[in-house]
Amino acid sequence: MIEIKQILAEKISKAISDNWNGTVVEAESIRDMFEYPPESSFGDISLPCFRFSKTLRRSPIQIAEILKAGIAGEPIERIENVNGYLNIYISNDYLATTLLTEILSGGNKYGSQTIGKGKTVVLDYSSPNVAKPFHIGHLGTTVIGHSIKKLHEFLGYKCVGINYLGDWGTQFGKMIVAYRLWGNREEVEVGGVDKLVELYVKFHHEAELDKSLEDAARKEFHKLEQNDPDNIELWKWFIEISVKEYKKTYRQLGIEFDSYAGESFYTDKMPAQVEKLRQMNLLKIDDGASLVDLADYNMPPCLILKRDGSTLYPTRDIAAAVYRKNTYDFDKCIYVTSSAQSLHFAQWFKVVELMGYDWYDKLIHVPYGTVSINGEKLATRTGNVILLKDLFDMAISKVADIMTEKNPNIANKEETAEAVGVGAVVFYYLLGNRIKDIDFRLEDALSFEGNTGPYVQYTYARTCSVLEKARKTGADKYTSSDRITAQEEANLLKVLAKFPEKVLTAVRDLEPSVITRYILDVAAEFNRFYHNCQILNATDEQTVAFRLKLTEAAGYVLGNAFELICLKKTEKI
Ligand code: ARG
Repeated sequence: MIEIKQILAEKISKAISDNWNGTVVEAESIRDMFEYPPESSFGDISLPCFRFSKTLRRSPIQIAEILKAGIAGEPIERIENVNGYLNIYISNDYLATTLLTEILSGGNKYGSQTIGKGKTVVLDYSSPNVAKPFHIGHLGTTVIGHSIKKLHEFLGYKCVGINYLGDWGTQFGKMIVAYRLWGNREEVEVGGVDKLVELYVKFHHEAELDKSLEDAARKEFHKLEQNDPDNIELWKWFIEISVKEYKKTYRQLGIEFDSYAGESFYTDKMPAQVEKLRQMNLLKIDDGASLVDLADYNMPPCLILKRDGSTLYPTRDIAAAVYRKNTYDFDKCIYVTSSAQSLHFAQWFKVVELMGYDWYDKLIHVPYGTVSINGEKLATRTGNVILLKDLFDMAISKVADIMTEKNPNIANKEETAEAVGVGAVVFYYLLGNRIKDIDFRLEDALSFEGNTGPYVQYTYARTCSVLEKARKTGADKYTSSDRITAQEEANLLKVLAKFPEKVLTAVRDLEPSVITRYILDVAAEFNRFYHNCQILNATDEQTVAFRLKLTEAAGYVLGNAFELICLKKTEKI
């Protein structure tokens, strides 16, 4: 893999060593000093040399002058020393030959790396609570989580995606009572999760009037804990119904999990950890409950056992982390949840550290902001929520309408409408930094203009249709000049060159929006090129062939980037 920053950093590192008596400044640290100038008149990439003043004991201007002489040659066209800034211009020849060849030979793999080889990353994401609505608040954990998984895979890590289903807890006592009182098998078979949620909501309404229902629910949950066969059967069935439906949503997003080990899976794994805590004298009894005091770390205590001895959310997470470490020997274990759970993770991560597990620092919480729709916040208990599948359906049907209008004869209409509708929601969601709260405006998300999913998918389809036309006319057989003749061509190549670096940044910051925004940069440059340069009708065959190569390269980069953020590659829209 070549990356221009890396090549330049290595050259500079060598020039420093050559001119300063073997002084070592690692390429890795130089790499991070580069800046992209705000205007192309300051070069394609720039290095502020004052950063070396201390080490190299010269003025930035002198340093820049010495380095300038030391690093000339491929891939550099020319270098200017402007007040101690080395402004570097990349050569067109390099872009049109070495870089373009690299992209085309990389193809679906361009931008990927092997730095993660031999390392395992466990990702805990999506994890809806069974029998409760899978609502738009879960969009974040689902698509951010999957995107972070894809990004790591792209860097060669082995990834294990775990759907830590909320498949245990007192809500199942409530569900069992509600189902026996008001439900029936056929209705649930047909109505699926909606029906289960309806029963759950009805339980809460009725329980306000009749307090004995709560008691009944506690009893049924207790029976479930004691392995009562009837309750176990019902419980398994609720999960089955729910998972079947979640999988439809996951399929629309192109998501598959490696494991569905939910909360219930860890029930028998908790006692050993509770015992360890007790033996290490970390447990404090407070009003009958057992907790780990975290006052020294400026956090409220972490609750481990309730007064009645039952376990809690953190207890389960601790046991699950130990199990995952033993099973997968992870190098990172990533949890993606809303920032409302940040304290929970900070607390139990600290407990794991206090327990002496030396891998505590491999646990990473990735929080994200809240979602509202058209300014409205979401309420759960009342049942007044927007479900993810309804949001997707809405988006899909609106896209289908637009397509009927614009392109009525398209093949695979349904499939395309689904890819574009779902893609619109995902793209809109992943555009901003994950930690920022987001107000969802479907109208904006679905627009074919502006910075939207449909716009970038349309751009990708455009690259496909140009290449298809070339195959039909035989233009794909021409020999390329491999020579840049228009500024738009150079600009497109320069943005494509940045892809590997963007992938690294997205992984470093666990931030899919780096890729989403990069896709917009690529789409903008490709469309500029498409509108201002004739591709199939260029003046000579060599130029046609060269521009076809550029189109193909742009298609690869867009497609590879789409894969990283759960966006489908639509060949025709
Ligand atoms: N089921 C939880 C919820 O919907 C999220 C679980 C997150 N993962 C974890 N290991 N705690 O809020």
